[in-house]
Amino acid sequence: MIQISYVSRATAPMSSEDLLSLLRQCLTNNPGSAVTGMLFYANETFLQTLEGEEADVDHLLQRIKADPRNTDIQLLHRRTIERRDYSDWSMGFRRLTDETLVAAGAPSGTTVADVNPLYLVRHRDIVEQLFREHVDPNARTLDLIDDPRDQLARYLKAENTRMRGQVELALLMLESITDATRHGGVTERHLQLCVEATAALRRV
Ligand SMILES: Cc1cc2nc3c(=O)[nH]c(=O)nc-3n(C[C@H](O)[C@H](O)[C@H](O)COP(=O)(O)O)c2cc1C
Repeated sequence: MIQISYVSRATAPMSSEDLLSLLRQCLTNNPGSAVTGMLFYANETFLQTLEGEEADVDHLLQRIKADPRNTDIQLLHRRTIERRDYSDWSMGFRRLTDETLVAAGAPSGTTVADVNPLYLVRHRDIVEQLFREHVDPNARTLDLIDDPRDQLARYLKAENTRMRGQVELALLMLESITDATRHGGVTERHLQLCVEATAALRRV
C-alpha cells in the first residue's frame, strides 16, 4: 500500500453545499476502492492524504488532478505503508479553523486567512501535526500490548476524532440548508445531499 498527501488550490470558494457534495463523492466512491484518508479545507485550499493500494490511489489522484474544482496540485509526500493511518475513515473531513491551526503548532495569531498552498508547503511541521492529530489511534498501534489505561485513552481519542467528523458533516448539512433558505430556497439537490449525509451519519 502507499500513502500520499498533496495540497491544491480551489478554483473558487467552496460553499457548505459544495463541500457536502464533494464529501458525498468521497464517501460513496472510496469504500469501493478501499481508499481511506483525510481531507482538510480552508481559504480555497485543499490538503488531503490518500492511502490504499498503489493503483487505486494513483487512479484517484489522476481524477482529482483533472477535477475542475481544484488546480496546482503539489505532492507533499508519497511513501509505502504497512498499515493505514485512517482505517476507520473512507474520507475524514475537517475545515481548518484558527484554533486547529494554532493547536497544530502555528504561531498564535495565525488565522485561516493565512492558509494557502504555499503556506502549507512551507510549513510541513504544521501539516504533519494536522495529519497526526486526526490519525485513527487504533490503526497505528494495533499490535501493541499496552496498559489498559493507554487502551482507554486511545479508544477515547478515536471516539473523539470520529465525533468531530460527524459534527463536521452535520454542520455542512445545516449550513447548506441555511444558505439555500437565505438565498432563494431549498432544492431537490439539497434534499438529496441531506438524505445521503444523514445516512452516512447513521452508519458511523
Ligand atoms: C480536493 C479534492 C479531493 C477529492 N477527493 C476525492 C476522494 O477522496 N474520492 C473520490 O471519489 N473523489 C474525490 N474527489 C472528486 C474526484 O475528483 C471526482 O470528481 C470524483 O471521484 C468523480 O466521482 P463520480 O464519478 O462518482 O462522480 C476529490 C476532488 C477534489 C477537488
